[in-house]
Amino acid sequence: MLLALPLGAAAEDRLVRLYAPDGLVETGLFKHILPRFSLKTQIKVELVAGADKADMEFGRKGRVLVQGAGQLWHIQRRREGHNGTDRLAKWLHSDVGLRTITGFAPDGAALFTLPPEEIDEVEDLSLSGDVVLGLSLSKTKCARCHAVDDATRLTTIGSTPSFFVLRSLSDWQERFATFYDLNPHPAFTQVADLTDPFPDDRPSPIVPVLMTIDEISAILAYVSGLQAADLGSPLVHQ
Ligand code: HEC
Repeated sequence: MLLALPLGAAAEDRLVRLYAPDGLVETGLFKHILPRFSLKTQIKVELVAGADKADMEFGRKGRVLVQGAGQLWHIQRRREGHNGTDRLAKWLHSDVGLRTITGFAPDGAALFTLPPEEIDEVEDLSLSGDVVLGLSLSKTKCARCHAVDDATRLTTIGSTPSFFVLRSLSDWQERFATFYDLNPHPAFTQVADLTDPFPDDRPSPIVPVLMTIDEISAILAYVSGLQAADLGSPLVHQ
């Protein structure tokens, strides 16, 4: 009788409702990959009949995954902040997940292959250029005080919020886009074409942070890809 109780939060986290078009389901791909994922993670995946009821969808929108059965397949999350869905998306795109998909060869021939390289490149090019620049700028301009990546987590001023913590705030984008106006930065930060020079009687008390608007955009691109610190967990603290 206990089993008839409604799903608790934990159980709900461990169930992903997946939608895929019939043509893809009929290849048998999901019977091949889903048990492997579920065994490893203890997260159950249920195929549902309509995309509107799904946490995740295979189709033509979202992030490219593999090609086969007549098209390029993308996965799109239809639900954010759901543990099971996050784990499944991550696994599908991991080396193990992709090997499991491309290893599916029902009649001895693989049905799915990795997508052509150009597609990934075209999609990621502008972003990744910026992200790399953003990380290097964060290290040179911000890591004096903030932890900006794993390597600087342990070496910076403990009381200054890390980029991971700031990233978990709902208005992180606004804060980063205007950080030069938010204390303590105005005293030591100048953005070309944006901020006034330091007043003569109040020069920057430390080696100033000098930057451009484009450099702030690059930092935003980098921070956008950071994994936010899990502030919900009492064990994580800065
Ligand atoms: C000299 C030390 C120092 C440097 C360098 C520095 N910061 Fe900060 N920053 C701080 C401190 C201290 C705080 C916390 C202020 C507070 O809690 O009131 C902060 C807070 C922030 C916040 C949150 C502000 C708010 O009010 O919500 C953002 C965003 C931020 N910093 C971005 C940056 C970026 C981007 C850089 C590099 C370009 C940078 N900081 C460089 C010391 C620094």
